Amino acid sequence: MKILICYFSGTGNTKKIVDKYKEEFEKLSIEITIHKIEEPFFNYNLDDFDLFGLAYPIHAFNAPSIVLNFLKTLPKQENKKRVFILKTSGEPLSLNNISSLKAIKILRKKNCYLTNEYHYVMPYNIIFRHSDNMAFKMWDTAQNIIPIDCLEILNNKKAKLKHVFLGSFIAWIFRIEFWGGRFNGKKYKVNEKCIKCQRCINFCPTHNIKIENGKICFGRNCIMCMRCSFFCPTNAIKIGLFDKWKVNGPYNFNNYNEDEKESHNKYCKKSYQKYFSRCEKKFEDINKK
Ligand SMILES: Cc1cc2nc3c(=O)[nH]c(=O)nc-3n(C[C@H](O)[C@H](O)[C@H](O)COP(=O)(O)O)c2cc1C
Repeated sequence: MKILICYFSGTGNTKKIVDKYKEEFEKLSIEITIHKIEEPFFNYNLDDFDLFGLAYPIHAFNAPSIVLNFLKTLPKQENKKRVFILKTSGEPLSLNNISSLKAIKILRKKNCYLTNEYHYVMPYNIIFRHSDNMAFKMWDTAQNIIPIDCLEILNNKKAKLKHVFLGSFIAWIFRIEFWGGRFNGKKYKVNEKCIKCQRCINFCPTHNIKIENGKICFGRNCIMCMRCSFFCPTNAIKIGLFDKWKVNGPYNFNNYNEDEKESHNKYCKKSYQKYFSRCEKKFEDINKK
């Protein structure tokens, strides 16, 4: 069996999930190809694959615009193609489920049909910084659950997420973020801490950042993925109207730190608990069998 996963990841969370999928599929001797959506797609033909996976981070209850635009460019398939969707988001609210509705609609036009959909909670790259302990727990949970999800996909055991009433309409309203991002992106600035390393320029998935007359300038093609400000080594980028929500610097997913303080432990507490216990139950049930 051959699988193609096309993914977009602003700050690495979705990539981590996709890499884990690759590892698991390879353990099962599945031939897997990974395509980064921001790179040219010419080398692939969907017809050469038995299964098509799409992975993205949720942006304002939607798939990022770069993902939807990519899907629109896909040719219509002659034969029906099975699709699975993997998504990551900072909080586990079920409203996040609506993020795939537009993608599913576009995929249907391409003769591609969703059978499996999975949502992994990963730390926020905007709004506030989760603790590293929370990041550790999220990643640990995802790692336990992904092997089970991989088997579901391979065994054609359907898994779909429930969408709220009027989900498409709500998602459509939130797609104002696509325009908001472009408007706000123009307001990005670097401050005196900038060391002109040009990491932001080289990393930007839409080539929206340039250096002109020795100054870092931001254009109108920002998709609010946060890659530039998240990975800025001196935290020099101000992200316009959302600067108070900025998260800078990668998470440490690997160590549990007993002494670390959790500063947002009340935020969506029940929702996170529900997510973790649902995953634990799925893991335990499978292990009992
Ligand atoms: C512009 C923007 C909008 C976001 N909107 C949501 C959202 O609606 N719901 C949510 O739970 N997380 C939201 N997030 C958080 C990301 O989905 C989350 O941190 C994700 O794991 C980032 O993945 P990445 O590192 O692959 O980009 C948003 C992040 C950004 C940058």
